[in-house]
Amino acid sequence: MAVTLLLLCVTSLSITANAQDVTTVPNNQIMNELSLLRAMVTMLQDQMADIKTTLLNNTNRQMLCPTQDGSKQQVNQKDCYDVQKSGSKTSGVYTVYPPGEGSGVQVYCNMDVEGGGWLVIQKRDNGHVDFYRTYSEYEAGFGNKSDEHWLGNRYIHEITSSGDYELLVILEDFQKHVKTAQYSHFQVGSATDSYKLDVSGYNGTAGDSLIFDHNGKPFSTHDADHDSSSTNCAQVHHGGYWYSSCLKSNVNGQWGKADLTGITWGSYENWRMYVLKHTEMLIRPVHRS
Ligand SMILES: *[C@@H]1O[C@H](CO)[C@@H](O)[C@H](O)[C@H]1NC(C)=O
Ligand SMILES: *[C@@H]1O[C@H](CO)[C@@H](O)[C@H](O)[C@H]1NC(C)=O
Ligand SMILES: *[C@@H]1O[C@H](CO)[C@@H](O)[C@H](O)[C@H]1NC(C)=O
Repeated sequence: MAVTLLLLCVTSLSITANAQDVTTVPNNQIMNELSLLRAMVTMLQDQMADIKTTLLNNTNRQMLCPTQDGSKQQVNQKDCYDVQKSGSKTSGVYTVYPPGEGSGVQVYCNMDVEGGGWLVIQKRDNGHVDFYRTYSEYEAGFGNKSDEHWLGNRYIHEITSSGDYELLVILEDFQKHVKTAQYSHFQVGSATDSYKLDVSGYNGTAGDSLIFDHNGKPFSTHDADHDSSSTNCAQVHHGGYWYSSCLKSNVNGQWGKADLTGITWGSYENWRMYVLKHTEMLIRPVHRS
């Protein structure tokens, strides 16, 4: 219905488009046509806003939209498990549509570990990307989805609050040993809650360095100190994270540093200071059919 109105508008607008007439017609006629034009532009803007709202409404997500690479992709794919269900079996960058987002968001889907369908929210591997960032950068996300990146607290919140999600943390040291920590429940709160962490149900080989000291804590960065310490944990440990006073793990610390600012997971090596090379955090819905 809105589309039909829009077409009608465009047709009637074209009668005013003859520029040569403008010099010979009286001023009041020009003024009349101008105000008519203004009214039409306003109407068009309103209608476009309506159409946009309608298209983006969650209830209309069944339609097919073209993605950047020209392929067809389901707008109702909100995570990598949906991407996998639609038949994509290769790990790589895909567009998903987190609930509440108007447009698609590029994410890296890992289709290889533990049955696949995992959406990567954090990755470190080589120090290519600086993780000492502001609160708004952690909110919007940064880095390269095919390489080191942080997906963005806003998207992590939207996805993890749309259902039950689990978290897989993959950790690798410089000797190529790999250990993992899995959590059967993972959710990140809203902006109002400063993206508070809600995590439970650990199992794995790396030990739990996320629940104690991090669970229930708001997200902190050097410019937004929400920790419970008298120091600024994000500044001292050079990262952005759910710090308290201050940490048991620091996966967003400085890559390659063997000090307070480094990338650590306390329980990885029996609470000895131990620097990790590679960390990845992946999420997937718990109920999969
Ligand atoms: C989206 O659709 C639902 C169900 O049809 C409707 O109640 C709601 O008002 C719509 N939201 C917007 C923003 O149009
Ligand atoms: C992102 O990372 C990939 C893999 O390392 C690389 O090939 C690509 O050039 C990077 N893109 C940008 C924009 O840096
Ligand atoms: C945690 O337990 C589940 C269910 O038994 C299992 O599939 C998974 O591999 C375990 N995760 C780790 C990291 O050991």
